[in-house]
Amino acid sequence: VTGSRTVAGTAPIGVFDSGLGGLTVARAVADALPHEDIVYLGDTARVPYGTRSASTVVRYARSCAAALRARDVKMLVVACNTVSAVALDMLRVELDMPVLGVIEPGARAGVAACHGVGRLGVIATAGTVASGAYERAVAGVDSRVEVVARAAPLLVPLVEEGWVTGDVPRLAARRYLAELAEARVGALVLGCTHYPLLAGILEEELASLAARAIPVVDSAHATAAELAATLEERGLATTGRGEGRLQLLVTDLPGRFADVASRFLGRDVAGLGVEQIDL
Ligand code: DGL
Repeated sequence: VTGSRTVAGTAPIGVFDSGLGGLTVARAVADALPHEDIVYLGDTARVPYGTRSASTVVRYARSCAAALRARDVKMLVVACNTVSAVALDMLRVELDMPVLGVIEPGARAGVAACHGVGRLGVIATAGTVASGAYERAVAGVDSRVEVVARAAPLLVPLVEEGWVTGDVPRLAARRYLAELAEARVGALVLGCTHYPLLAGILEEELASLAARAIPVVDSAHATAAELAATLEERGLATTGRGEGRLQLLVTDLPGRFADVASRFLGRDVAGLGVEQIDL
């Protein structure tokens, strides 16, 4: 985390993602830091990012970050693995505030969960896997741990469709995880914002394929913990107030917005203010 700017501790935390999947991170942040205000931006008009080129994702990330900066956020959380994979360094250089991505916390939590086993499994979007970002992040934590990363693109539309139980996600999960089980990974990192909704199925299928329990790490919780520590360190934490407010900004309002958003957030979004903005 780099950068500095004078903002009040009561200013909101900015969180953005390519769409609504990053609400899994916003949810973990709200649980860990209940007094903090959060402004969440989902670039629903341009989702998915995971299938796009790095230069396009960098361009999109820049516009999302600028929109949140204009709302005077005290810190930026990049709640998208694909953006964290290809645009985090650029955002840290260009922005005058602390910027936290999801890959470094996920890599740290994954290495810790490996318990000395030399291989860490990662499933993510094609863009994240192609970037090699998890390999770099894990090498920075423990160079003895080898990353086995696989793209699992079908899981994103399944989660958006609400198919998080039953045969269809189970078979898709099994197909994607077979190679990781064969590689005898010591833990699995869910390297995409959508996957926490399938955590139970992924854990069960991986255990069944490997014939033993393998810990599954969700980077949302690791990111929220790291965010809490960063705010504390920098004297930016809010304490002693009522419950923080969550504000939602989107670039498009798809038909099933409330339904999909509520699923990711784990609570009804009906009472929250949703604003559509142009980037
Ligand atoms: N938010 C993206 C990620 O975590 C997944 C959805 C997308 O492809 O945009 O990588």
